[in-house]
Formats: sequence, structure tokens, C-alpha cells
Amino acid sequence: LRIAVLFGGRSAEHDVSVLSATIVMNALDPQKYDALPVFVSRDGQWLLSAFEGGELSKPTNGTQLSLIPGCKGRLFALPEGTAAYELPKIDILFPVLHGLHGEDGAVQGLAEVARVPLVGCGILGSANALDKDVAKRLFNEAGIPAARSVTIYQNDTPAFEELEQALGLPIFIKPARQGSSVGVSKVSTQADYAAALSEGFRHDSKLLAEEFIKGREIECAVLEAPDGSLFVSTTGEIVPAESHGFYSYDAKYIDEDGAALRVPAQMPPDVEDEIRAFAVRAFRALGCDGMARADFFLTAEGRILVNELNTIPGFTDISMYSKVMGASGVSYPQVIDRLVEHGLA
Ligand code: DAL
Ligand code: MG
Repeated sequence: LRIAVLFGGRSAEHDVSVLSATIVMNALDPQKYDALPVFVSRDGQWLLSAFEGGELSKPTNGTQLSLIPGCKGRLFALPEGTAAYELPKIDILFPVLHGLHGEDGAVQGLAEVARVPLVGCGILGSANALDKDVAKRLFNEAGIPAARSVTIYQNDTPAFEELEQALGLPIFIKPARQGSSVGVSKVSTQADYAAALSEGFRHDSKLLAEEFIKGREIECAVLEAPDGSLFVSTTGEIVPAESHGFYSYDAKYIDEDGAALRVPAQMPPDVEDEIRAFAVRAFRALGCDGMARADFFLTAEGRILVNELNTIPGFTDISMYSKVMGASGVSYPQVIDRLVEHGLA
């Protein structure tokens, strides 16, 4: 089975994707899969990569690929100035891309149009989950508790006092369509707010001001079977180091001691059941399929709030998705087998 693994990408999470894809490539059983890594450069070129000695190459030039629709799911190479030629048939596409242009429905739509089967979530669920503003409205509509927020548009920013009144202090300012905490700031003062807006708007034209929830960060993995039933893993907890204040990009990927993962998370079984049930409801509310990692806050008073769903969660060696699946008895290669089965169904 030939599986094309897309990695890199145009989003701010380019480097995270490279880490994720390296782990995915290592987990693909060569007896079963003929893996074809495709590097997406920061400027959006698709280039044939290679996997050697446990590392993915990141070519700067070479055979550029394009998906041509309407050709029974065949991938074509389009070298500049010469005729397109057909590549060996790709059986399934696995976008290991995070954030915009990869996790947001764009590549999913491309696969759909070109009739190439896809690993993971389809167009609508991907787009809904990636946009924190849209996701929040769908959670609200489904009665799934989430932190209160105010949507902020460029050239239409509320006064700091307004947000303070609506959400209390501190607040988080986040780009609506980013992952890995890129561009996120914690704001307590008017001066912080100004800085947070300019930082946020560097990454997106739409931001979210969100109330600060003091609580534990709990996550679980959702995996859909080919028959549509959902497997929900045990929960895991993220414990950010005191020095980082919150689970920032640096705490996630730069500082080795930035955060600890506790799997399984310690909590009463009925609370865990409730979180896992919310994960299913949230997955359905956003129209997801395939997989997602569902992220929650659990407060000292026992309130559960959904934070977000990630339809292509990090697969790095510090990542939660595979850890909680592992704790539920599903190994990494089994996760991949099931994702492929779902995609081909
Ligand atoms: N957006 C990162 C990769 C995650 O959710 O794990
Ligand atoms: Mg995310």
C-alpha cells in the first residue's frame, strides 16, 4: 500500500510537522507500507523527499508534485517547462501537517477533488476545528461548556476595559487559526493588551480574547473505526513547568523541561467518563471524522470545559495522542493501521 506522507507546510507549525512526520515514518511498517514522503516547503512547494537513517530530507529543489483532479486519484509530477508525467499510484494521503493549509480542510479538499483517499478528518471538521472562533460557537450551540470569549477583528478591536468587564483578568489573546500556542499571549494590563494584539495579528486577521480558566489541562484521543464508531482513549494531563506560566510553544517544543505529561491523568473515574463523553460530543459537534485530540480544562470545582480539538494532533515523541492511545492498549503502529483502514473505508 503506497502512502504519501505530507509534511512541513506553510504554517507556523512547519517545524513541529517535520518532527511529527519523522515519528510517523518510523512507525510505518515497511512490510505493509510503501511510504512516499512529500515535503511541503514554507513557500508551499511540494517536493519529493526521502527517508534515510531515520531522518526525512527537506529538499530545496527537485521533482515538484501537484495533485491533478479528475484522474482517478493519480498524482502527477509537473516539472517546470515540460509535460506532466504520472507518478506511481498513491493509495492514500496522510497529511502530517499542522495548522493552516494542512489541518484546516485545504489539503483535505484537494484530496477529495483528486479522489485520493485521505487519513484523518475531512474538509468540514478540519475547517471547523482549526478556527477556534467557529469551533467555540459550535460548542456553545451543542451545550458543551467552553471558556467565554470575544472575537476580535482587525480594525475593530474592543477596548481593554470592555474585555475586562466581559471576561475578567487575566485574559488570553489567541490567533483564531493557529496551533501550538503560536502567537498566544496572557494579558493582565492595557500595555500587555496592545502588545498581544500586535503579536496576534502577525499570525491571523481574527483573534480570540478568552477568559483565563484556572484548571488542569486534560487531553484524550478520539479515533474513528471504519464503521463510524468512536474509540476514546484514557485521559492524560499536561503539567506545564511553573517557569512557563502556560503551555506555550517553548514549553511544548523548545524547553525539554517545559512540561510534563502524566498518563493516565489522575482523577475520579466518573470525571474521566464525563470528559471522554464530552470528547465524543465535541467531535460530533464540529463534524469531525477519522481522528482528533480533544483538549479540556478541569477546574478545582470540577467544571469541565472543552478547549479545542486538533484534527492532526502533534505526533512528536513528546506528544499526547500516541501516549494516551498507548495507555489504552493501542500501539503507535496500530493507530496508523486504524487510521489507514478508516481512510480507505
Ligand atoms: N497543534 C499541535 C501540533 C497539537 O495540537 O499537537
Ligand atoms: Mg492546537
